Amino acid sequence: MSFPSVRMRRLRRTPLLREMVKEVKLHPSDLVYPIFVDENAKAPVPIKSMPGYSRLPLNQVVAEAKKTLEQGVKAVILFGIPTKKDEAGSEAFAENGVVQKAIRNLKKQFGDELAVIGDVCLCEYTNHGHCGIVKNGEVQNDPTLETLQKVAVSQAKAGADIVAPSAMMDGQVQLIREGLDDAGFDQTAILAYSAKYASSFYGPFREAAESTPQFGNRKSYQLDYGNPRESVREMELDVNEGADIIMVKPALAYLDIISLAKSKFNVPIAAYNVSGEYSMLKAAAQNGWIDEKAAVLEMLTGIKRAGADLIITYFAKDVKSWLNQI
Ligand code: PBG
Repeated sequence: MSFPSVRMRRLRRTPLLREMVKEVKLHPSDLVYPIFVDENAKAPVPIKSMPGYSRLPLNQVVAEAKKTLEQGVKAVILFGIPTKKDEAGSEAFAENGVVQKAIRNLKKQFGDELAVIGDVCLCEYTNHGHCGIVKNGEVQNDPTLETLQKVAVSQAKAGADIVAPSAMMDGQVQLIREGLDDAGFDQTAILAYSAKYASSFYGPFREAAESTPQFGNRKSYQLDYGNPRESVREMELDVNEGADIIMVKPALAYLDIISLAKSKFNVPIAAYNVSGEYSMLKAAAQNGWIDEKAAVLEMLTGIKRAGADLIITYFAKDVKSWLNQI
């Protein structure tokens, strides 16, 4: 059968018909909302490079999560900005660290209605801004693992449902799984930032989290953007080490990697629609150069279509109302 009996436009005729045959539908419950908890803040601190986004004081995190839930988004990922930073990133695993406190408050308030994810990394907590322990100007792999293990256990103890190691140290998922199991947290899941590329799209986040490396860059631990096959090795290792969910980051310039992940692994796939992707779109929208709502829904649907089951995005809270408008 071909034209004229076949007419592709028949099912595009009305909004209802189009909706009925839409293959990939974005839903707010696909999304995860990032929250930056700032121990120094008394009020929200707007992040200049991320219009519409602020770091929050601890006492506003529950209210923010409530708004998130009202928008149909059922998961948050927490990043902490501590008062004290040191060589070892010790505030990252402090029992009364700012993220640990936030996790406890959220769990107390929302129980199982909200999934709380803790980002497990050191860059916001070290005075040099790297994701691991630094010796002789180099980020040390194995000594960092022990600290990451402590961070994950401290977050699990505070009540995190999921811990998300993002430091890109070799063996981090294995050590974290062992640490959690030994401490009695065999039900705490691991979302591994497995395919995390060294990217210029993290720029605004580093302002938000005050985590810009004070020397060098992160290329000795994050992936090179020319390498798709290497990302498969990273993901394979993490799945074998016990990752429950694997993640590709950033999302937009890495849709092929998301699709690879989906085709190769039978674990849920997450994608991180990172700060630079948010800010680019915001900037264009503020200039009147792009229709923000339509572009965001198109972008997020594209990430889902590529294979993401979950998307971490700074736009998470907007999606529900925008879906109703378009
Ligand atoms: C590192 C970390 C980064 C992001 C989240 N956790 C990136 C980095 O600085 O290397 C970036 C997120 C974003 O840009 O939105 N632990």
